[in-house]
Amino acid sequence: MSFSLPERIEIMEVCPRDGFQSVKEFIPTEGKIAILDALAGTGISTMEITSFVSPKAIPQMADAADVTAHFNAKWRGKITSVALVPNLRGAESALAAGVDWMNFVISASVDHNMANTRRTVEESIEELKKVCALKGETKLRLSVATSFACPFAGDVPPEKVVRVVEESLDAGVDGVTLCDTIGTTDPKYLANTLTEMRARYGDYPFALHLHDTHGMALANMLTAMRMGFSSFDAAAGGLGGCPFAPGAAGNAATEDMANMAERMGIPTGIDIPKLLAVVRSMKSDFGLTTYSHLAVADKGCCNS
Ligand code: COA
Ligand code: ZN
Repeated sequence: MSFSLPERIEIMEVCPRDGFQSVKEFIPTEGKIAILDALAGTGISTMEITSFVSPKAIPQMADAADVTAHFNAKWRGKITSVALVPNLRGAESALAAGVDWMNFVISASVDHNMANTRRTVEESIEELKKVCALKGETKLRLSVATSFACPFAGDVPPEKVVRVVEESLDAGVDGVTLCDTIGTTDPKYLANTLTEMRARYGDYPFALHLHDTHGMALANMLTAMRMGFSSFDAAAGGLGGCPFAPGAAGNAATEDMANMAERMGIPTGIDIPKLLAVVRSMKSDFGLTTYSHLAVADKGCCNS
């Protein structure tokens, strides 16, 4: 029996956005920049560096423009930058600051979309169309939050994902990520939705954004890899969570994803010992609560 896997995978480092947004105490901008610089030196090619959101909704991201300015001065052209935007206002700010990609978020589940962006799914799609019209040379990714499960409505059927994807592709997005925002989906449910997506969109290169709340992120990643998907979001030190999704825990840790892939002979470009050193310093120098399997094995960088 054959065991097919992609020849290479891409990991987008999302710690500076998804990770930091759930840290309650404000991380001073210099601290964010120090971590971002250290992560940029671990071999990753794409980083979600911040989000242009209401500082009332997420005070931690109030310094998005400063973080982006630093990134552009130091890393533009070397590492691809991504910034999350929840609305037109955020897109305007991201374009003014200068990012390579905007990451527009719409939930497949209306309940989560209302909690996260105070809009119906239709309203968000209308806003996305306006962002498409505005984006110029800047690339635009759609992240479909709650693609598999919603904290309020439970299992999300694939039709709800298809609806958002369909309209967004028509509107002209350049990439789509399917997100297990609350980290509770299992490999079988994930495979069922991915099978639907394959049936409708052929080999369209959907990326996966997996949280590890119920400990199934790596199993879900392997399932997606076996189905030919090769782009994943991950956060160093397993940080992450959505402030508008009760109970959601951290992202799949970059070091665990990279380790699993590299062990199977699949290159990621990530220098794992270097990354573990960054995770250690995120804990010791910045007091962040990191958690990953490799961090536990490493002893020095796990809080538990
Ligand atoms: N950037 C900066 N400020 C923003 C903003 C943005 N992208 N979107 C809204 N605001 C500000 C408005 O200026 C207004 O400020 P004011 O009260 O001082 O006048 C306030 O937020 C509310 O404005 P409103 O027009 O009611 O907001 P909205 O309905 O357009 O946007 C959200 C609401 C939900 C998009 C916004 O609260 C938000 O950014 N949420 C964060 C979502 C998120 O990041 N979730 C986690 C990641 S998936
Ligand atoms: Zn997330």
